[in-house]
Formats: sequence, structure tokens, C-alpha cells
Amino acid sequence: MQRRNLIAGNWKMNGLGQSLEFFEQIQQAVVSRPDVDVLIAPPATLLHRAASRAGRVLLAGQDCHAAASGAHTGDLSAEMIRDAGASHVILGHSERRTDHGESSETVRAKADAALTAGLVPIICVGEQEADRRAGREQEIVGDQLDHSLPDGGEFVIAYEPVWAIGTGLTASETDIASMHVFIRGRIADGAARRILYGGSVKPCNAASILALGDVDGALVGGASLKAADFSQIISAAG
Ligand code: PGA
Repeated sequence: MQRRNLIAGNWKMNGLGQSLEFFEQIQQAVVSRPDVDVLIAPPATLLHRAASRAGRVLLAGQDCHAAASGAHTGDLSAEMIRDAGASHVILGHSERRTDHGESSETVRAKADAALTAGLVPIICVGEQEADRRAGREQEIVGDQLDHSLPDGGEFVIAYEPVWAIGTGLTASETDIASMHVFIRGRIADGAARRILYGGSVKPCNAASILALGDVDGALVGGASLKAADFSQIISAAG
């Protein structure tokens, strides 16, 4: 089963207008890897302006509301995210699950809304450090998958062990490989689904992580804020 690699950058709550020069700065790396999909999730305030500069780079929102419209002050619907120029939306990131108390059921409702609006959800799952120490990582991730995924349609999964996000720690290649095999076996159409790894992916570790057979790309936080680092990660895609 041929699955295209996806290198996705999540800027989180970083970036103002001048950050959009990034798209010109990564252009060379993007052009030299036509076999790789490249995506950036800027803050929603930049989506519209990013759309005119992104070229072949795909754009994503970092969240959307499950409802199509209504009295939800400060929230954005999936259709608004698409209207601003995105083709994808990140859902269920651990920072949303933790900071905003999002349950897997909420994530699933958002994923359904995203699909209805024509967006491809990138659905994040991952265990806490205590779960892994207790040997419960597959139980936790399996439960998140069971309750976060839509019934069908196109979506991407990002496995992000929470203890590896923004910490400089990465899961071992053995642990990443075995979790990706587990996820593929747990979900419908597992052989066809793109499964990304996220958590402190950097130029120095990208090539070995992306070379793993069941890893179809990366969801990159901190290293997606620097064009030089992100370009190296694009070039390292397996
Ligand atoms: P990080 O973030 O690369 O800074 O660890 C990853 C993520 O949150 O998706």
C-alpha cells in the first residue's frame, strides 16, 4: 500500500504577518520533494493571508467547533476554517484535550463536522508519561482511537506521546514502530491510513523516525517555526 508522506507543521499560538515569509523560505525544500505533502497549521488569524502565499503547501486549522454555526463566542466552525483557505484541520491535540478538557467524543463530533465541511481531519492521540510507565499506552491510545475517529471518510492520525511534545524527548524508534503497528491494526482501513508521529521531531532525529515503515510523516511543533529546520525535516522524509 503506497501512502504519501505528510510533513505537517503546527505553529500553535505563534506567528504574526511577518511569519508568512516562511513560505518563501521553505520553497526550495518543498519543490525538491514532489513526492511529499507539506502542510502548515498557522494560527487561524493567518490562514487567509497564508493561502495566497502557500503555493503547493497545504494549510490546516488547529481546531474547529463541532457545530456549523451559532452562539459560540470565540469559536470557529469547520466551514469558516475551509473558507479561510485550509484543506485540513488538526483535532484532539493534547493541548486541546488538556487545556480545554476535550474528550474523545468531542473530538469525534468535531471530526464529523470537519468532514461535512470538506476538511480532512488530522486526529491526534497519545498517552501520558504515567500511562507509558504503567505499560498502559496501547490501552489509552486504543480507547482514544475507538472514540475519536469518524466512521469513514478521509482522515489522518497523528500519534503524539504527550510526554514527548515540546520536551526534547522522543519515543524510541522501537516504541514508535510498535505503536504505529498497533494503531494500524486497531482501525478500519488501517493499511490505507496515513499515521504521523509527533513529539520533538527535529532535523537531527527526523530521518531515522521517518524511515520507519509504518510512519507516514511527522507532526512538528517547535521545529516548524524555523524555516531552515522545517526544510531539513521535509528533505528527510522517508
Ligand atoms: P513539538 O510539538 O514538535 O514541539 O514537540 C509537536 C506537536 O505538538 O504537535
